Amino acid sequence: MSIRTILHYPDKRLRITGKPVKEFGPELHQLLDDMAETMYAAPGVGLAAPQLGVAQRIFIIDIATGEDEASELRVFINPEIVETQGSVVWEEGCLSFPSVHEDVDRAEWVKVRAFDKDGQEFELEADGLLAIAIQHENDHLDGKLMIDHLSLLKRRLVHRAMAKRAASDRAAE
Ligand code: NI
Repeated sequence: MSIRTILHYPDKRLRITGKPVKEFGPELHQLLDDMAETMYAAPGVGLAAPQLGVAQRIFIIDIATGEDEASELRVFINPEIVETQGSVVWEEGCLSFPSVHEDVDRAEWVKVRAFDKDGQEFELEADGLLAIAIQHENDHLDGKLMIDHLSLLKRRLVHRAMAKRAASDRAAE
């Protein structure tokens, strides 16, 4: 296992649409191990493969944040959100947007169909933080980012802050 580099906005690789996974073998399992290690180290509640520059339809979620909550790593491969209900505004963050937290409109409830690491199909109904995380991570697979959900004004502010950050990161290298 190894911790991989998480791409930060405005890295263009975050905009690439992920390709469906076809092989559920050791290579995939290696990637999933690295994704989990990278997400927990960050730390974050979700991570999508395109955030590591891997253009595949894979994301992982673990919404246990407190020490008293049992950790449960959920793996979603080739996911599809098949049903949604309601709407809710949620303050979101993203590992590709360090220190940015913005309100985003999402469905309150989702039903998702996906494959697990061994290629077994499953269906899951979710609300609360899990539903939000599923929608946020699923967006990443289509090159869609939280900034796309913001008003034009907020989008400009976040873009400027992130571009500035990227420039100072480059200067520090
Ligand atoms: Ni994200």
